[in-house]
Amino acid sequence: MSKRIAVCPGSFDPVTNGHLDIIERASAVFDKIIVGVLNNPEKKALFTIDERVEMLEECVSHLDNVCVAAFSGLLVEFVRKSGAVAIIRGLRAISDFEFEFRMASMNRKLAPEIETFFMMTGNEYAYLSSSVVKQVASFGGCVKGLVPVVVEKRLREKFLSRKAEGSAIEE
Ligand code: PNS
Repeated sequence: MSKRIAVCPGSFDPVTNGHLDIIERASAVFDKIIVGVLNNPEKKALFTIDERVEMLEECVSHLDNVCVAAFSGLLVEFVRKSGAVAIIRGLRAISDFEFEFRMASMNRKLAPEIETFFMMTGNEYAYLSSSVVKQVASFGGCVKGLVPVVVEKRLREKFLSRKAEGSAIEE
C-alpha cells in the first residue's frame, strides 16, 4: 500500500513548541511527515536555513516518521517532488484564517490533487509565534516553555553575538 506522506511547511525562524505540537500530532495521523523549511533569500531571517533545519532535526529526532528538508520556490512543487499528498498547517487564532485561506486556495488552483489540512493549535500555543519569541528574546526576556531548550540556547547565543558585534562597531 502506498504511504500517505504530508508536508508541514513553514519558515521556522525559529521552530516553536506550537510548531512541534502540530508536527507531533500530524505524525500520528500520516505515515510520514516532511517538515519543509522555506529558504527565501528575499525575506530576512534571524537564523540561516542551515541553522533552522539543524534545530528542527534535533527537535524531531524522537519521531521515526518525521524528516526535515529545505525548499525554495513553490510549495506545491516541493510537495509533488516529495511524493506527498497533503499540506498540513496549524491554525491559531481567527487572525490566521484569511492568510491561510488565500494560501490554500492558491495552492489548490496550482495543484488540485494536493489537499491542505488545518489543525487547531493547542490552547497554550494559540498566541505563540516565532516573531513574538524573537522579539522577547532580543530584549533578554524569558522564552522558556515556548520553544525547545535547544532553540532557547541558540536564541541567547544569537542575540549575544549580535550585541557583541554591535558594541564592536560602536567602539
Ligand atoms: O511559517 P510561515 O512563514 O507562515 O510559512 C509560509 C509558507 C512557507 C508556508 C509559505 O510562504 C509558502 O508556501 N511559500 C512558498 C511559496 C509558495 O508556494 N507560494 C504560493 C502559495 S501562496
